[in-house]
Amino acid sequence: MAGEKPIDSEQRLLELKEFLSFHDELYYKKAQPEISDQQYDRLKRELIDLESKTDFTKRLSNQDVSQSEIFHSNNFPMVGDDRLEGFASHRHMVSMLSLDNTYDEAEFFDFDARLRRIFGTKDLPYVVEPKIDGVAVSLTYENGRLTSAATRGNGIEGDVITQNILHAQGLQRTIDSPTLPEIIEVRGEIFMRNSEFVRINSLREELDLPSYANPRNLAAGTVKLLDPMEARSRKLEIVVYGLGGCLPSDYFVNQSSFHDAIRNWRLPVVEFLKSVSSAREAWSAILELDELRHQYEYPTDGAVIKLDSFSMQRRAGQTAKSPRWAIAFKFESERQETYLEEITVQVGRTGVITPVAHLKPIQLAGTVVSRASLHNADEIHRKDIRIGDVVVVEKAGEIIPQVIEVVRSKRLESSLPYEFPVKCPKCQTLLTRQEGESAWKCPNQGCPDQVKGRLKYFASRGCMDIENLGEAVIDQLVDRGLVRSIPELYCLGIDQVLQLDGFAQKSADNLIDSIEKSKTNEFWRLICGLGIKHVGTSAAKELAKRFPSLETIAQSTEEDFLSMDGIGQIMAESIVGFFKEVDNGIVPSELADLGLNCQRTTTALPVSILTDKIFVLSGTLESMTREKAQGKIEKLGGKVSGSVSKKTDFLVAGPGAGSKLRKAEMLGIQVLGEKDFIALLEQK
Ligand code: IVH
Repeated sequence: MAGEKPIDSEQRLLELKEFLSFHDELYYKKAQPEISDQQYDRLKRELIDLESKTDFTKRLSNQDVSQSEIFHSNNFPMVGDDRLEGFASHRHMVSMLSLDNTYDEAEFFDFDARLRRIFGTKDLPYVVEPKIDGVAVSLTYENGRLTSAATRGNGIEGDVITQNILHAQGLQRTIDSPTLPEIIEVRGEIFMRNSEFVRINSLREELDLPSYANPRNLAAGTVKLLDPMEARSRKLEIVVYGLGGCLPSDYFVNQSSFHDAIRNWRLPVVEFLKSVSSAREAWSAILELDELRHQYEYPTDGAVIKLDSFSMQRRAGQTAKSPRWAIAFKFESERQETYLEEITVQVGRTGVITPVAHLKPIQLAGTVVSRASLHNADEIHRKDIRIGDVVVVEKAGEIIPQVIEVVRSKRLESSLPYEFPVKCPKCQTLLTRQEGESAWKCPNQGCPDQVKGRLKYFASRGCMDIENLGEAVIDQLVDRGLVRSIPELYCLGIDQVLQLDGFAQKSADNLIDSIEKSKTNEFWRLICGLGIKHVGTSAAKELAKRFPSLETIAQSTEEDFLSMDGIGQIMAESIVGFFKEVDNGIVPSELADLGLNCQRTTTALPVSILTDKIFVLSGTLESMTREKAQGKIEKLGGKVSGSVSKKTDFLVAGPGAGSKLRKAEMLGIQVLGEKDFIALLEQK
């Protein structure tokens, strides 16, 4: 008996380690986790419990490194590793650890009891703060100047991501005060708002790129982009909450005074910092925070409870993984059980097959949920999801519904494993899958669903913006065999349009007019509308500026594209590959023959006072959208940049302009209100 148990737990230990290291890789390096934080935490807890039962691992994970708290010891923190190739390394002055976490009230009070034993006191002073669900960052300021921003990395060394987050709202390049520490590491989180997350995901879907599951993952993916220009096109924000290293090391005495100081330095701080004098008071603050946290701009998944005094923190010490002076109390995200009534598959614009779960509708975190993406065949297989199962549904990052797991105990005996289709549900072509890819694809470019997807993308607002050509009209045109490709759209006759449901003479004329009008669109709109993988609006605009015609783009080589700003290897390969394809129905000369504008506008821009001037837009404008403002500036030869620098000529500031305005004022850059801006445009 004695011999059996350890083998079981050793096996489980190995299994858990392997499983968690697979998911660590997905979470830290790829920013594409496949299990929820709660599932991860549960397994991690199981691992820690098992480890503490075996002597050897106990010594490893609970080593007391409290004596070497200020600078690194040789002990390696056990915190995962987010470092990637292509980034410079930064060594943290004080290691960036992880936090112990719990979902359980009693465990929170155990944490307090342990500390009280160390200090021999009845009650201890704590601070309670929100736990921000973003990406950990360490900002180093030397004599008030930001010298680096780095990720946690392996806890000791992180990746330098300064260029990718310089534009983050709230980030200060300099901090000012009569008595600044010589060097200070300020710790915080980079996050993304939900609205920005939704905006970027929909752009990615249009480009047939995998979407991110939640704002945290997208923020993590953004800080690790190798192209800072791309990073700059995504709105990031920062909030700071903690102290890393500091010279002199006794500059701050406690967390509350540190918080006050960083607020005075105009760094964006958490708005909830409760100083309390006992665990009971801390518990009330935790409950209060759970009520308030949804109003905050950043996503939160718990509360962090810290000993307030820095000298007490030092005395409490830390393990190789986390400090003993702090704990995260995580809030359960809302979950519900429901029936999985059906699984259908959708065919995307490029043939990617996406399975969708049809659920018995449930109310979840404020909305009715009846569908959830199942991502791909592997995911269904891994979770063994079957039609008729009772499943647990949760909103990833509190937004996108996901099937977390199957409730096995409620499975019907008669249920059968789900068989992923082998043929395209639309055109019956055998599906294919490339080695190493998780997506099955319909390889038939003529598949009506793909044709519809391509035409919808082509006609959409961000591309050719063809009025009256909505999704329902495109569905009809393709279903009736009237249009099978982009060129055929331009061959449509009025008689054909009149065959469609809901069309009369006037509406048919309008549709034909809109299609005709789109022929004169700016060149970049056509490039964008072709749906070349990875080529979105900004790359299309660059291509339209650089190349005289679609035909020259089609004849160019990877090297030609690589020499351009903002175009990397993957995009270059994709463009060349697109024009080599014969099945996509795109022949540049044919489009030109049909009368579409396939050429760069050759009329030289009149030299205006805006020529080559660099604008930054901040806050909201009443009379136009940002896109409109950008269009107007570009039309007059100016440029729009995402962040304020010495090179900026004008900052256009509307209500809500924040850190950019402060930066512009600091650098002495001319700030224009909306009226001044419009006057400038009119003056040309
Ligand atoms: S204090 C020694 N305070 O949570 C670690 N961390 O799981 C002390 N986090 O790496 C960290 N909000 O990235 C602290 N108010 C907060 C936090 C916070 C989010 C993150 C941080 C840390 C991770 C630990």
